[in-house]
Amino acid sequence: MSINAARLRSWRSVVRLMVLTGALLVAGCSGVQSALSPAGREAERIADLFWWMTAGAAVVWLAVIALAIYAVRARPESRKQRRDSLLIIGGGVVVPTVTLTVLLVYGLAMLPPLLAPAPAGSLQIAVSGEQWWWRVRYQPPGGEAFTLANEIRLPVGEPVQFRLDSPDVIHSFWIPSLGGKMDMIPGRVTYLALTPTKTGVFRGACAEYCGASHALMNFSVVVQEKEEFIRWLAEQAEPAQTPVEPMAARGQELFLANGCSACHTVRGTPANGVIGPDLTHVGSRLSLAAGTLPNEPDDFRRWVAHTTDVKPGVLMPSFHMLPPEDLRALAVYLESLK
Ligand code: CUA
Repeated sequence: MSINAARLRSWRSVVRLMVLTGALLVAGCSGVQSALSPAGREAERIADLFWWMTAGAAVVWLAVIALAIYAVRARPESRKQRRDSLLIIGGGVVVPTVTLTVLLVYGLAMLPPLLAPAPAGSLQIAVSGEQWWWRVRYQPPGGEAFTLANEIRLPVGEPVQFRLDSPDVIHSFWIPSLGGKMDMIPGRVTYLALTPTKTGVFRGACAEYCGASHALMNFSVVVQEKEEFIRWLAEQAEPAQTPVEPMAARGQELFLANGCSACHTVRGTPANGVIGPDLTHVGSRLSLAAGTLPNEPDDFRRWVAHTTDVKPGVLMPSFHMLPPEDLRALAVYLESLK
């Protein structure tokens, strides 16, 4: 093979590798948990900032690479002392200073609107980050507040004000598709205003290392049309339905008899514990164990019987000692809580 053919082949592989890397990078930008695929007003601003920063970094990088190529390629005798000084001052001082100053001013100017509270009268939702799940409290305007867990629904096009805190360690509330993150600090209350602009199902996550199962602390965010959201909110405010199916009724008895009610609330039943997630409508949620498992009867059973295998360090004890038919009845009961 001639040297030229070998060179051509190696160039082709480099180009192929670059195209592949580019495709992978672009594929990583979409999805339900991507800050670069914005579905909210705040996320759009942050994505704009990212692209401007990327463009700015590209300008600085190109200037440096151009200077490096010039330094390697230019013949020593053609380099004039004066032109070299100009290049160093221009490419090494002026271009980076101007680019970085413009980006700094652009980034800082973005902070006040991103940190501004939602207008008075907006939907209020209080969220507590707990090891390792999310306590969600809706305060509907004019209605009574009620508590849910691990799922947040929002009406599209309307600002929402989140009130954030934590009873244990520092967590960070983040819905990348809708906006920036905000720390949840024990003993302090922080606020975050978001305005979703697109309907869909997105994913929220804890963005601050908070213990063994930090990576298993996620939640679903469903952005809906206003009427659909109001219907959902009214359903969630209702107490749980009394189970009619014998298996589910048996499950409810077991739920109360095995002490589940010491930690969990099921509104409309004697279960009123507040240590763990409210389970009044747990069967209606998109996932179990804070985004760790799908919401299916088999997964309920797996979760109840093997809590620490599914989520290391979790406070809830495993109920593997229960007979399989009891676990099945419990799963059927929990799944029936729509
Ligand atoms: Cu909570 Cu990480």
